[in-house]
Amino acid sequence: MTTVAELLQPVETDLDALLADLRALIGAGHPILQAAAEHLFAAGGKRLRPGIVLLISRAIAADGQLSSRHRRLAEITEMIHTASLVHDDVVDEAATRRGVATVHSRFNHRVAVLAGDFLFAQASWHLANLDDLEVVKLLSRVIMDLADGEIRQGLYRYDTGQSFETYLEKSYCKTASLIANSARAAGVLTGLPQEKLEALHHFGRQFGLAFQVVDDILDFTGSDQQLGKPAASDLASGYLTAPALYALQERPALARLIEREFSEEGDLEQALDLVRGCEAIPRSRALAEGFAREAHSAIDWLPPSEPRSALRALPEYVLSRLY
Ligand code: IPE
Ligand code: IPE
Ligand code: MG
Ligand code: MG
Repeated sequence: MTTVAELLQPVETDLDALLADLRALIGAGHPILQAAAEHLFAAGGKRLRPGIVLLISRAIAADGQLSSRHRRLAEITEMIHTASLVHDDVVDEAATRRGVATVHSRFNHRVAVLAGDFLFAQASWHLANLDDLEVVKLLSRVIMDLADGEIRQGLYRYDTGQSFETYLEKSYCKTASLIANSARAAGVLTGLPQEKLEALHHFGRQFGLAFQVVDDILDFTGSDQQLGKPAASDLASGYLTAPALYALQERPALARLIEREFSEEGDLEQALDLVRGCEAIPRSRALAEGFAREAHSAIDWLPPSEPRSALRALPEYVLSRLY
């Protein structure tokens, strides 16, 4: 299996420099908030989002080189992502992330809320300093979408009547918007024409949706250890993702368990068995495959290069996380 590190190899040195820069950037803040942010950066994520920004930036540069503004955009992208994780873990009451304790469990809730705010604020400041109004609009829209997505997810908890459309819109807001808009912003900084900016946005959108559907499948099929975060937690929290929504179509008995919020002994186990035991997982996989295929073909116009090959292979990597 290709690992994400192998795929990001064309920008590996850039990513190492980025992480060092990020730590220096957040270093200017309050010691406690700095410690909280550092805690997650040190645990090490996959760095997929800044990796995509850097690969796109190199793939569209006339000389293949990165500008300092493209580098800064990649840093902002990872800052926004990390901030959203810190807040998401508070909302979900999750105990682990990236294989270590979440910020709120390691420190406390107050620190986690402030550390997330602090990262969002830092990201906004560095964003404004890029001095490109279009890029500011794209990335501030992402921060709006993230909040919107979390709110929507909360509103539809345990709601078995929600449409598949609602789930996809929530997924766009929470996950795909950041990838789509940062991909587009890389193109804006290079001065690409409108139709290529649209294509970059589409790539990020479909890739992000594939990524979220795969994450949602892994929540049913993976282990805590494999994921570095709690597994089997979405359904327990009342979050109905693709596998649960498909299972509801096939197993009417599931609705009763969800609607009574798994209040009786054995309800949750029974519900998990129902989802795992029908066609819901294969159907979710097919959904992710469709998004991944669309992401792959959205960037067929990029001129041949190593970064382009890596970008074209990324959707397949996302699917391979399932095997
Ligand atoms: C986690 O994203 C949030 C989701 C969109 C599911 P990642 O799985 O990319 O998180 P890290 O950055 O690698 O920890
Ligand atoms: C991922 O949503 C998107 C964000 C965290 C913003 P999830 O809620 O599925 O993420 P995990 O599963 O907690 O990583
Ligand atoms: Mg979550
Ligand atoms: Mg998840």
